[in-house]
Amino acid sequence: MKDINASFDDILRQRHSARAFLPQAVPEALITELLEMSARAPSGSNIQPWRVYVLQGPAKLRIEQKVCALHDELYINPQKIEDFKTEWTYYPRTWVSPFIERRRENGWGLYSLLGIEKGQKEKMHQQHRKNFQFFGAPVGLFFTVHRSLEVGSMLDYGMFLQSLMLAAKSRGLDTCAQAAWNTFSEVIMSEIGASEDEKFICGMSLGWADPAQVVNAFDTPRVAAKEFTRWLEE
Ligand SMILES: Cc1cc2nc3c(=O)[nH]c(=O)nc-3n(C[C@H](O)[C@H](O)[C@H](O)COP(=O)(O)O)c2cc1C
Repeated sequence: MKDINASFDDILRQRHSARAFLPQAVPEALITELLEMSARAPSGSNIQPWRVYVLQGPAKLRIEQKVCALHDELYINPQKIEDFKTEWTYYPRTWVSPFIERRRENGWGLYSLLGIEKGQKEKMHQQHRKNFQFFGAPVGLFFTVHRSLEVGSMLDYGMFLQSLMLAAKSRGLDTCAQAAWNTFSEVIMSEIGASEDEKFICGMSLGWADPAQVVNAFDTPRVAAKEFTRWLEE
């Protein structure tokens, strides 16, 4: 019994967010295979709310350059954030415990691994900027959803995204889901030619992680099941 799910469990454990990739291109047939596998994800009434944009080559570079420039502008002039309209917020406006502590632990854990200390704003900016180059990955993915759909489709979407990340890992590929792009969703939607009916969900980097980069050694803890589970039996 014990080993029945060993390989699947291995994939679950081996999937980490990669933040430095090798430039090696991913064959289009392989990307299609990953998307076919992710589409096996369940969705309420089987509505399959996902829509995917695959970016490579000059199309990817164009968006990266545009968004990096905007990100740099925001660094110099933070009030400009008002110009960027996002349709939904991924994170809460007000953070409460225990989430704020976990978020801080995660952020500082990553920065300290990279030798970035509190107050080193330029270094933090440069690290965050790597999001907008898909961390050097050869493939960038953007996900959208039809705007008529409700929050239930976000549940479906999460399953699709995790299926994609696990299908990638099971083939030796790596990913990083990226909400960082959401700030610039208006610009992205226009660049990728998305219709007015679509809403931006998030981005994702896809490729082979560079094992020589220390950032990819970042390991994230999880709260034990007993801490988030309540058993009701009697
Ligand atoms: C929807 C979603 C959005 C995320 N956005 C970003 C992001 O913009 N940039 C980033 O570096 N990591 C991002 N992450 C990665 C998380 O920080 C990461 O999943 C978490 O710290 C757990 O680490 P692990 O993925 O290595 O297990 C995102 C993850 C998810 C699921």
